Amino acid sequence: MAFLSDTLTRVKPSPTIAVTSKAAELKAAGKNVIGLGAGEPDFDTPQNIKDAAKAAIDAGKTKYTAVDGIPELKTAICAKLKRDNGLDYVPAQVSVGTGGKQILYNALMATLNPGDEVIIPAPYWVSYPDMVLLAGGEPVIAEASSQTAYKLTPDQLEAAITPKTKWLIFNSPSNPTGAGYTWDELKALTDVLLRHPHVWVMSDDMYEHLVYDDFKFCTPAQVEPQLYDRTLTVNGVSKAYAMTGWRIGYAAGPQALIKAMGKVQSQSTSNPCSISQWAAVEALNGPQDYIAENNKTFQRRRDLVVSMLNEAPGITCPVPEGAFYVYPTIAGCIGKTSTGGAKITDDEAFATALLEETGVAVVFGAAFGMSPAFRVSYATSDENLTEACTRIQAFCKGLS
Ligand SMILES: Cc1ncc(COP(=O)(O)O)c(C=O)c1O
Repeated sequence: MAFLSDTLTRVKPSPTIAVTSKAAELKAAGKNVIGLGAGEPDFDTPQNIKDAAKAAIDAGKTKYTAVDGIPELKTAICAKLKRDNGLDYVPAQVSVGTGGKQILYNALMATLNPGDEVIIPAPYWVSYPDMVLLAGGEPVIAEASSQTAYKLTPDQLEAAITPKTKWLIFNSPSNPTGAGYTWDELKALTDVLLRHPHVWVMSDDMYEHLVYDDFKFCTPAQVEPQLYDRTLTVNGVSKAYAMTGWRIGYAAGPQALIKAMGKVQSQSTSNPCSISQWAAVEALNGPQDYIAENNKTFQRRRDLVVSMLNEAPGITCPVPEGAFYVYPTIAGCIGKTSTGGAKITDDEAFATALLEETGVAVVFGAAFGMSPAFRVSYATSDENLTEACTRIQAFCKGLS
């Protein structure tokens, strides 16, 4: 009898671990390593949010709370969904968890039966396929093309749907590409879903507030109100409010689903941290002006990175609408040899040689389901970005 569960054997070890541990190893050996792998803003959590957390501690808000969130936070989430997205929800339709990650996992655990399919557009956030596998479902990868700026087309969505499809996971702006769907692009996808009433949509809106060049964010339940009864709108405070460590995410959707997600959470982690919940109330209800300030910084860095990467031979880097990632393709580098003698057979070989020879750590495209490419997180200083991109340019110039 195997000791480890069969379910766990379906899950691949994280492909990003190899690069991350190699970067740590080189750093420990004294090499000047610049990490462009971080999935979190480099800004500090705003002071008003920290103060709310301190006040919560002093007021003794340090006990168990309702499993899926305090009423004050659920009310703040309903107000946010109305204010930002024009969506009407009541607190009983809201679930709060330990990060968006737990919310997505709860939703999949609460709904998937063996054989149920979940459509995941690629490039995708690394956790989606493995979460589906852990919950006993089957990930169905629908590859978006770099020709359509990594956005899924209606035909690609239509082709991926089968009678077994339970969910489409939709993520805009996207991790890893930063691609954001316009209202019309999203409407074309929701039109497809209207023709398939058995398919639900899980919209991961985590990067909603990180958008540039006047891009207007939109979400499926807003674009197509007829999908309201089969949409789970997922969001959180990690990215917009620089609160990754506080671990608060949430979702709004049909009450029966929200109740089922609460059941999963009640027998695993129970309530998310009480202090973090009070901090999240302040994040959502308090001043929002620093988001625009941070976005100015992110937009400047995006423009810097895109223009410098496009000067590197063999690299083509599209300009994304949001998040803090770019996803350059490296078709022109494959098949070449680096100055250090490494054969660039695929994007993993590219990322490994780049790290070993220049000390720049990026995540290779295969980890996100689309090659040959790599992901750069520009959530680091302008100085680091300029130095890293200069090294990438030199690396690419040295390929022969
Ligand atoms: C697309 C996407 N969704 C969800 C999450 C989860 O965020 P958290 O669990 O910090 O709320 C992340 C974090 O990297 C993400 O990139």
